[in-house]
Amino acid sequence: MAPADLRTLAETARALVAPRKGILAADESSGTIKKRFDSIGVESTEDRRRFYREMLFTTEGHEEFVSGVILFDETIRQSASDGRTLVQVLTDAGVIPGIKVDKGAKSLAGATSETVTEGLDGLRERLEEYAGLGARFAKWRATYTITHDLPSPYAIEVNAHALARYAALCQEAGLVPIVEPEVLMDGGHTIERCYDVTRDVLQATFAELYRERVAFEGMLLKPNMVLSGSDCPTQADHDAVADATISCFRDVVPAAVPGIVFLSGGQTDETATANLNAMNRQGPHPWELSFSYGRALQAPALKAWKGDDANAAAAQGAYLHRARMNGLARTGSWSADREKAA
Ligand code: 13P
Repeated sequence: MAPADLRTLAETARALVAPRKGILAADESSGTIKKRFDSIGVESTEDRRRFYREMLFTTEGHEEFVSGVILFDETIRQSASDGRTLVQVLTDAGVIPGIKVDKGAKSLAGATSETVTEGLDGLRERLEEYAGLGARFAKWRATYTITHDLPSPYAIEVNAHALARYAALCQEAGLVPIVEPEVLMDGGHTIERCYDVTRDVLQATFAELYRERVAFEGMLLKPNMVLSGSDCPTQADHDAVADATISCFRDVVPAAVPGIVFLSGGQTDETATANLNAMNRQGPHPWELSFSYGRALQAPALKAWKGDDANAAAAQGAYLHRARMNGLARTGSWSADREKAA
């Protein structure tokens, strides 16, 4: 890669993890956004999805805490009610548009209940189109389930390979790849087991990224935090989560990676903030520790909106509040008191 191209990628990656800022993941696929809308009794039509996302993106002041937004294919082609494209709405506010480019986790041949994420065929052409539509970064998510004998080395390897092929193609197209290997929190496993699996997954992923010549300074990692399984009878507290996550990442994430932007993965919005805060209280770290939350930034906004346009201001207020709280967590200065006082 030409040094100038790498410089641009590295600048974009650093801008996405600028001080106090993180990413809004608003790239729910059609099936996932339907589930979210079902939870508030709203029919998922193209116009409702457009309205909802325009409402979030036009929230005044969110750009103070939100550096970038990940869009879904439908959204990157939609326009706001004032005629500007949603990409333009974001860019005008100084927010960087990104795009989800994977085609979802599909059953892995020869494996029981494991998945591989698809979407490599034609990816080079799709990335070129997305770059033309204004995207400056991309996302690809692989998932791994923990049981007593899973994930298998097979599932870890094939997903690492796909993540690295995606990342290399992104950098070639001038887009910063967000590499998202998500070890799911579902299950009764302990935090120690989550630590071991996350370490194996990250180790394999970075080995493959290296082999496939991905420049670490021009990418971001979007991982799970190291947590107790959601059904584990003993739940690790915020400080234990911070200790385990940082210790795991120091072992396997190169310091050249500018930032780690966590997914929330089913944690409640306040827990996701508290855990990020606990990690940043222990800083400085070799990388920026930030957020790329979907549910943890949107859940209160969805609830406030309820599909009624008259509630748009309340929904924007709820979203801005979560963005601000996570902005505080970026420097370890969030507290439960500040949460309540706001
Ligand atoms: P959650 O924060 O809801 O896990 O979503 C983040 C994401 O982008 C998953 O791919």
